[in-house]
Amino acid sequence: MSPSALTDLDQHDRVPAAPSNGVHLPNGHLSTTVLNGHARTAFLLDRNLHKSFPVVERGSGSYLYLKDGRVIFDATSGAAVSCLGHGNKRVFKAISAILSTGIPYLASTFWACEVVEELCKKLIDGTGGKMARVYLTGSGSEAMEAAIKLARQVFYENDPATRRVNFITREGSYHGNTIGALAMSGHPVRRAPYEPFLMDNVHHVSACNAYRQRADGESDSSFVARKATELEAKFQELGPETVIGFVAEPVVGAALGCVPSVPGYLKAMRDVCHKHGALFILDEVMSGMGRCGTLHAWQNEDVVPDLQTVGKGLGGGYQPVAAVFISSRVVNTLLNGSGQFVHGQTYQGMPVQAAAALEVQRIVEEENLVGNVKRQGLYLEKCLRSRLADHPNVGDIRGRGLFWGLEFVKDKATKEPFDPRLGVAQRVHDTAISAPFNMTMYPGTGTVDGFRGDHVILAPAYNVTEEDIEHIAQVTSNVVHQVFRKLGSL
Ligand SMILES: Cc1ncc(COP(=O)(O)O)c(C=O)c1O
Repeated sequence: MSPSALTDLDQHDRVPAAPSNGVHLPNGHLSTTVLNGHARTAFLLDRNLHKSFPVVERGSGSYLYLKDGRVIFDATSGAAVSCLGHGNKRVFKAISAILSTGIPYLASTFWACEVVEELCKKLIDGTGGKMARVYLTGSGSEAMEAAIKLARQVFYENDPATRRVNFITREGSYHGNTIGALAMSGHPVRRAPYEPFLMDNVHHVSACNAYRQRADGESDSSFVARKATELEAKFQELGPETVIGFVAEPVVGAALGCVPSVPGYLKAMRDVCHKHGALFILDEVMSGMGRCGTLHAWQNEDVVPDLQTVGKGLGGGYQPVAAVFISSRVVNTLLNGSGQFVHGQTYQGMPVQAAAALEVQRIVEEENLVGNVKRQGLYLEKCLRSRLADHPNVGDIRGRGLFWGLEFVKDKATKEPFDPRLGVAQRVHDTAISAPFNMTMYPGTGTVDGFRGDHVILAPAYNVTEEDIEHIAQVTSNVVHQVFRKLGSL
């Protein structure tokens, strides 16, 4: 299938070409320097002020069309966001329809809105009624902030002098960049500049990383028992009556590169939490909403959390929208208490966010895309393993659904990582995104201990075909072979 055959945007949808020497604003200022299709911004405080980025002009399906004429296969859905791919006309139509009502925004303090309630009903239905309510936010970090505060309020409602002040989270985790969410994260590099003012009531236990932590011959059940013992010890160290809850990603995303929890782990962790009356909280911002082959990652083992955050795949990138799923235990505490969550933001549950997310979720359901994620995910695993399992620098291939990570090592036997100064993951990304490969791969570092270690993530759209999967696996293999061949010759 040629990329042009996938284009469903009309000619008039195209972004007009900018002059190659920059985009001129009406006041004559040059906003952007464009050179060879790459832009270095002049006014936007970009992610990296020393770098220039390829300019994207439009997107359609799994393809991004660049200013330099190249067509990129988006094998990562951005950062595991664009679950329907780009340019979905149905979602555009739903957004236009809500805009035409004149209420893209409504103050949630004063008004109710049908599309918002409709979305929340659909989301609760998707849990099989195992969660009770939904709190809508604009980003995953905001969803985590809301979950943190709601968890604390559960205990405060019953006893304003409650001693429950501590959270237990995990090393090798990422829960967002706002101060509360960052404090919950076990991501040393992102935490470093802000360490002095991150909450000191967040305590870490180890992640559940079979590749790095499982002893030779250790069974799933012994490994899980070890993790449960560690969590129990942390509760005892802090005083079980001081712990609000334990937070984990069921499949760790950016921090570790798609590390799934070992079977039995979620249940064991939940049991420890519940034994001590604490909350079991799952962060599914990256791994949820279908990404792992079940609508919610916890549905893989039916371990229902007390609170759960979702984000990226909820709105598929068509609107900034995220959410907290709230169990009846938590809702009932509020209902029987103050009746009010002491929290709120201006942009919360906006009709335009809800309309986009509702349409994305309808499409996911009507087109049975979660089933496709499961099917194509198994095929992706097979294709990756057959091409790369024997590569001397591919230490581990792991993931679930359409959420796969490759961890790179210098020595496969000892699992020794590369020197971080080599920037291995970045090299893989840079090579992948360049001609002739023209495909995205999401790089990450600190995979071993927060500082050392390299991985990349693959997370294509839910509607990919077998042909797409073969393309992704082949390009990945070609890129990996080229990067390590070159590294070997340095
Ligand atoms: C697991 C997880 N939680 C929370 C967040 C924060 O989400 P956002 O970037 O939308 O604030 C992310 C973002 O990557 C994430 O992967």
